[in-house]
Amino acid sequence: MGDLSHLFQPIKIRNLELKNRVVMSPMVTNYATPEGAVTQRLIDYLVARAWGGVGLIEVEATYVRPDGRGFSSELGIYKDELIPGLRQLTDLVHQGKARVAVQLIHAGRQTTSVVTGSQPVAPSSLADPSSGETPHALTVDEIHEVQEAFVQAARRAKEAGFDAIDLHGAHGYLIGEFLSPFSNRRTDEYGGNLEGRARFALEIVHQTRKMVGDDYPIIFRISGDEYVPGGLDLAQTKAIARLLQDAGVDCLSVSAGNYASPGMLIVPPMEVERAPFVPLAKGIKEAVSIPVIAAARLHDPRIAAQVIAEGSADMVAEGRSLLTDPGWVEKAQRGELDEIKPCISCNEACINYLLLDQPISCLVNPGCGREREFAITPVQQPKNVVVVGGGPGGLEASRVLAERGHHVTLFEEDKHLGGEFVVAAQAPRKEEVTDALRWQIRQVYKSGVNVRLGEHATAEMILMLKPDAVVVATGSRPKVPKLRGLKRENTIIARDVLMGQAVPGRRVAVAGGGAVGMETAEILSLGNKDITLLEMTDAVGADMTPDRRYWVLDHIAEHDVGVVTNATISGLSNGNLQIAHDGHEESIGPFDHVILALGYDPDKGLATELQGKVPELYSIGDSVQVRSAVEAIREGAEVARKI
Ligand SMILES: Cc1cc2nc3c(=O)[nH]c(=O)nc-3n(C[C@H](O)[C@H](O)[C@H](O)COP(=O)(O)O)c2cc1C
Ligand code: SF4
Repeated sequence: MGDLSHLFQPIKIRNLELKNRVVMSPMVTNYATPEGAVTQRLIDYLVARAWGGVGLIEVEATYVRPDGRGFSSELGIYKDELIPGLRQLTDLVHQGKARVAVQLIHAGRQTTSVVTGSQPVAPSSLADPSSGETPHALTVDEIHEVQEAFVQAARRAKEAGFDAIDLHGAHGYLIGEFLSPFSNRRTDEYGGNLEGRARFALEIVHQTRKMVGDDYPIIFRISGDEYVPGGLDLAQTKAIARLLQDAGVDCLSVSAGNYASPGMLIVPPMEVERAPFVPLAKGIKEAVSIPVIAAARLHDPRIAAQVIAEGSADMVAEGRSLLTDPGWVEKAQRGELDEIKPCISCNEACINYLLLDQPISCLVNPGCGREREFAITPVQQPKNVVVVGGGPGGLEASRVLAERGHHVTLFEEDKHLGGEFVVAAQAPRKEEVTDALRWQIRQVYKSGVNVRLGEHATAEMILMLKPDAVVVATGSRPKVPKLRGLKRENTIIARDVLMGQAVPGRRVAVAGGGAVGMETAEILSLGNKDITLLEMTDAVGADMTPDRRYWVLDHIAEHDVGVVTNATISGLSNGNLQIAHDGHEESIGPFDHVILALGYDPDKGLATELQGKVPELYSIGDSVQVRSAVEAIREGAEVARKI
């Protein structure tokens, strides 16, 4: 293990002393009320991270005016009536010995009239690239009103007991929109050259300083590079950083991107290398003398400590890693790196839930945002519980059951644990799935589960064990359609290709353009093969998260995979596939093999057989209905708390 001590040195932002260098990144949770008020859920979530050892908690982007709200249950700080709830929040976070800041936001054009009830506003009347909605360009008087809203919000923050504020100038929201030539085309004093574009932010800093006084720390978050044509780059943001420092900003938090950046760069998925924005933080640190916070994919404490050790930044922001494990800091400090529940940067249930305007959760930690109900409570009377299926859901159920004190036997018919996680991890750039699996397996053994590998559990075997409860987590089976000419010799199940258990010929048709079909096509395209991907609907990758879809599409295009949508296969003859395509019958090929990626059916056999024969019977995950690992793990976690 590298030297982690750099993470645990105290540091000051202005006069605010922090016990260590770990900052919890601001993350909108959608846990507030529709009016933006604090809830018990939000408090529980933040307090858990405070007790987990974080030096400074940055509470989520909190809107300073109702028209600056980005999500329907985002936190607000736009009126004095919200102060008592915020005060309760800061008091409880302080009890956990963490400092707490709040991030102030106006979402600008990166919201919609559906969320705010009014036309979005922006520096210029340019349609937002992601929503398509055209904002109203603020007049100079209106600019002053928004600035005043930031200043009043800062006052409320101080009154509510926050130790600092963070002005959200990153990610293409209103302050960032003014800074960037990508979104600011004004010709008045708030646009044009860099000084003009920075005026909006600098005036907010000056006026806020007057309001909060000399001692109060002001952090500013900036996108070091927006990674969009005509957007901010490091040369410009270094110059802006100097202006911000001169205006009285005490700390710069460096992120990157806006909503138009490719492939969800703001929250970099596992496709993106680790620590992608550290060079930006380093560049900005070279330009200023105030402390700089680096962010994004610093989830491994060794990497985070290295960033500080090498002088690229003074602090590290941990975002998703604290969603998966509120105790990240304490565990790192104790050197228990294997105990940290890893974030795999899948984005499945955090940012992608948020983009669907739902409360955030986490694939690996379904207890995120449900801290109270998901606490592990020991059982009074341990039961004999059999779990069938060692995939992600079965592993979660087994671990929690055993940790609560039940006697758990876990059957897995394969010779290894992991189920669909093992398959998923084979796809290109998804190796990090293995980290979550490794954690689950280690904890299952540690909690004392009796694991029986390579045994196909029949109803008779299970009944012989006289279980008090059975959890069926048998997953699903690939769909194999009965079509003319499709036989064992000319078809392969996609799962077998991904697992390296079958190798097709050179000319390949992949039937099914969902995640599995696309990932199989991508893997095969890395070899010297001609690949055609056939999809029934009008779009491939409909079951993928938008960011994953972006990256896989990018790669299969690079490797010349042919994609045919609106295509239904009716049969195979002499290696040629007959398809109905856009209303016409066609024959395409020839192909050496057809790879079947046509989805899965739930495996309900065992549950049906056991019905009425055991005192308690539960089915979870794909064995109920085929969905993602998010549901499987969540249901495993829930069931284990019911028994
Ligand atoms: C669910 C979610 C919500 C986020 N909301 C905010 C936000 O309110 N303000 C902000 O500056 N960044 C926000 N981000 C970005 C994070 O602060 C962080 O920069 C990003 O997740 C990368 O860091 P990580 O790899 O440690 O997660 C959000 C990210 C996630 C996953
Ligand atoms: S859902 Fe995935 S990316 Fe998001 S916090 Fe959980 S593991 Fe990390």
